[in-house]
Amino acid sequence: MSKTAILEIDGKKYEFPLVEGTENEVAIDIKSLRSDTNGVTTLDPGYKNTGSCESAITFLNGEEGILRYRGYAIEDLAEKADFLEVAYLLIFGELPTKDELIKFHNDIKAQSHVDEDVKRIIDGFPKSAHPMGVLSSLTSALVAFNPSSVNVDSEEEMYNAIVKIMAKFPVLTAWAYRKRVGLPLDYGDDSLGYVENFLKMMFKKPNGDYIPKQVIVDALDKLLILHADHEQNCSTSTVRIVGSSHAGLFVSISAGIAALWGPLHGGANQAVIEMLEAIKEDGGDTKKYMAKAKDKDDPFRLMGFGHRVYKNFDPRAKIIKRSADSVLDDLGIDDPVLNIAKGLEKEALEDPYFVDRKLYPNVDFYSGIIYRSLGIPVEMFTPMFALGRLPGWIAQWREMRLRKEPIGRPRQIYIGETLRDFKPVEKR
Ligand code: CMC
Repeated sequence: MSKTAILEIDGKKYEFPLVEGTENEVAIDIKSLRSDTNGVTTLDPGYKNTGSCESAITFLNGEEGILRYRGYAIEDLAEKADFLEVAYLLIFGELPTKDELIKFHNDIKAQSHVDEDVKRIIDGFPKSAHPMGVLSSLTSALVAFNPSSVNVDSEEEMYNAIVKIMAKFPVLTAWAYRKRVGLPLDYGDDSLGYVENFLKMMFKKPNGDYIPKQVIVDALDKLLILHADHEQNCSTSTVRIVGSSHAGLFVSISAGIAALWGPLHGGANQAVIEMLEAIKEDGGDTKKYMAKAKDKDDPFRLMGFGHRVYKNFDPRAKIIKRSADSVLDDLGIDDPVLNIAKGLEKEALEDPYFVDRKLYPNVDFYSGIIYRSLGIPVEMFTPMFALGRLPGWIAQWREMRLRKEPIGRPRQIYIGETLRDFKPVEKR
């Protein structure tokens, strides 16, 4: 007999089925709650206890620090796969064969141009504009240049839309940066790998070539893999909910970029390095900042610490920390903020405030240190996160449309005024 949950309201019992995932996660299926109970709803701010969908893309166990894409351990993928392979895996469900991978890359290359008129849009932004705002706007603007909406029942149309955004997004990301630093917009070189070409599009000077060191390409590839999906986080939920109104892929991703920008989400990587810099400037007194983080009257939080789901450790942070050490070593860089980061981590891991609340370093704690050593400026850290997360957003959008999910539309409990009489302005 299938398992059920019983809910009792005012002495009346209601029965709801339990849903079990392939990794034995259990949820109470409350789809019929409102109709069964005559309008009772659930209240769960921040959706801390609410599953919004069933998904076959990413498995995450926060208690045990497990992260898997389509069943593959993140540790394995970070070590053995490249970013484009992982993107294919996330989006289409299986690792590509050699031929499929070559075709995927060739199809992306064939779409890696952006309409020349996009350059005029970029010209309209002030140089000081944050690249996340520029990127979100440009991704949305892509719709104007690719107006036909995707018929999601056509595999071919879906594939073409996916290839287009995978191709154009790195161009827009690099251009958002080049505009900021006053470099002419550049297309890089399509004979290079996806990540290598992205680096070239970012850093090639008009009067010289740019050949990235292999250690830089490998480190960036790994970082992008680690960021590629993270199930129903804030930006991914945004992409799914925007797409659930049948808004297109590009504009749904543009909304995801906006959600990622915030310092509690992807924007944390920029906030971490700014925090570490501030601590360094202030004499490197980590204890002072630990005290601030614990003081409830002080809004300061230890950026790069804590996670909604991971309550043991963030497996991505473990990989990134090791990678930070080896990249800095390989490049011969001695970054003083790395020592401050290590010091803060050590203190936090021994401090009852952080231990009791299960606050561990997250993916963003060490990523900024690597980005910086690769020559990526601080305001580009969150766009790098967006570039990594792109395949995850696409995969989740595709899954949501293929599963024909209903429009996302949460309920609320109204706590405002009850009905009152309107007073004309002269009587108020
Ligand atoms: N520094 C100090 N205290 C913290 C921190 C922190 N970084 N994070 C959580 N806490 C405390 C918080 O004050 C609360 O204490 P109390 O129970 O006494 O009120 C408790 O820990 C639980 O925190 P919460 O805010 O209820 O937890 P949440 O699940 O809503 O928030 C979080 C998760 C990631 C937003 C939060 O930990 C945070 O703000 N961290 C810093 C920002 C950050 O690093 N974000 C990146 C997340 S990973 C990448 C990504 O998702 O993009």
